[in-house]
Amino acid sequence: MSQDKLIIFDTTLRDGEQSPGASMTKEEKIRIAKALEKMRVDVIEAGFPIASPGDFEAVKAVAESVRDSTVCGLARALDKDIDRAGEALKGANSARIHTFIATSPIHMKMKLRMEPDQVVEQAVRAVSRARQHTDNVEFSPEDAGRSEIDFLCRVIEAVIDAGAGTINIPDTVGYNVPAQFGELIRTLIERVPNADKAVFSVHCHNDLGLAVANSLSAVMNGARQVECTINGLGERAGNAALEEVVMAVRTRQDIFTCNVDLDATQIVPCSRLVSGITGFVVQPNKAIVGANAFAHESGIHQDGVLKSRETYEIMQAQDVGWSANRIVLGKHSGRNAFRSRMHELGMEFESEEALNEAFSRFKDLADKKHEIYDEDLQAIVTEANLEAVNERYKLMA
Ligand code: KIV
Ligand code: ZN
Repeated sequence: MSQDKLIIFDTTLRDGEQSPGASMTKEEKIRIAKALEKMRVDVIEAGFPIASPGDFEAVKAVAESVRDSTVCGLARALDKDIDRAGEALKGANSARIHTFIATSPIHMKMKLRMEPDQVVEQAVRAVSRARQHTDNVEFSPEDAGRSEIDFLCRVIEAVIDAGAGTINIPDTVGYNVPAQFGELIRTLIERVPNADKAVFSVHCHNDLGLAVANSLSAVMNGARQVECTINGLGERAGNAALEEVVMAVRTRQDIFTCNVDLDATQIVPCSRLVSGITGFVVQPNKAIVGANAFAHESGIHQDGVLKSRETYEIMQAQDVGWSANRIVLGKHSGRNAFRSRMHELGMEFESEEALNEAFSRFKDLADKKHEIYDEDLQAIVTEANLEAVNERYKLMA
């Protein structure tokens, strides 16, 4: 049984919006934020208030309309960014400022052009400044996944002393692999002397397709917050997908010692909302929210599912907000699935011969079409009936 709570920090409105072409208006951000609140997401990162006047207004509006989730604003480790975030979050019921500075050798040298000592000093200063606006401050050592462990420990210890309650470890460029990333989290928690005063969080990018795997490995090694986005939206190849992280932890309670406390039935509605607003289509075979995630086409699978759902399903479609699993009729489908769908449509067969006849017509059609719809099934039966009537006339003539 799980003891701890895993905090779900959604950054669809911030990192998700950084997907090229995914920018959202203030009204769209409010709609998504309300959907995330309904799902009972713990923290909603609403934007980067210093980035533009529009983003400032959007974070402000989200902060004023969301009551049940904490609303967070991102800020570089600069006074002007932090004050702008504090200003945008004033109306929030529960506000968090998330400040960050890079700690990897390449970022410090090439991007910041700063010495490590200066980075530590600026990180501490930023956290102290953020604490003047709210008690709830998160700090991220950007590019932690490529930072040196001794230096990371040093920065983290200093920012916890300065008042950061959440330490977020980003794999900014999606470079890490699961065993290594899990090890990094475990080592940090073991080695930072004041680690028990903060929640360790992870923020994984998907450049190698490992964002969810890395996040889960981190959770197994002590992380208690995961930063993620709906449909895995995000910069470049995206962030860890919220729906996958949540359902992996829920489904594998035999191995996770923490659990999530949100309404997973809102996952599919939320996924559709985000996809509709951003225009980013969800691939059909996407886990949890793809159109085929709970669809069965092969005859063997359909037969198994009709006998007992657990034969081929590890989750219930309804638990994540689908109306039901889908038995998709196609060329791999068997007689049992065919009969079952016909029954659902109110079409019964008088005899086994009638079923066999209709089933063979269905197979002929399925060879020509990718997917068979209910209208096709109706047509098969109507056609068969017409032929039977014609046959009778012929016999009478
Ligand atoms: O990927 C990243 O490093 C970020 C930070 C701002 C947390 O998005
Ligand atoms: Zn990111």
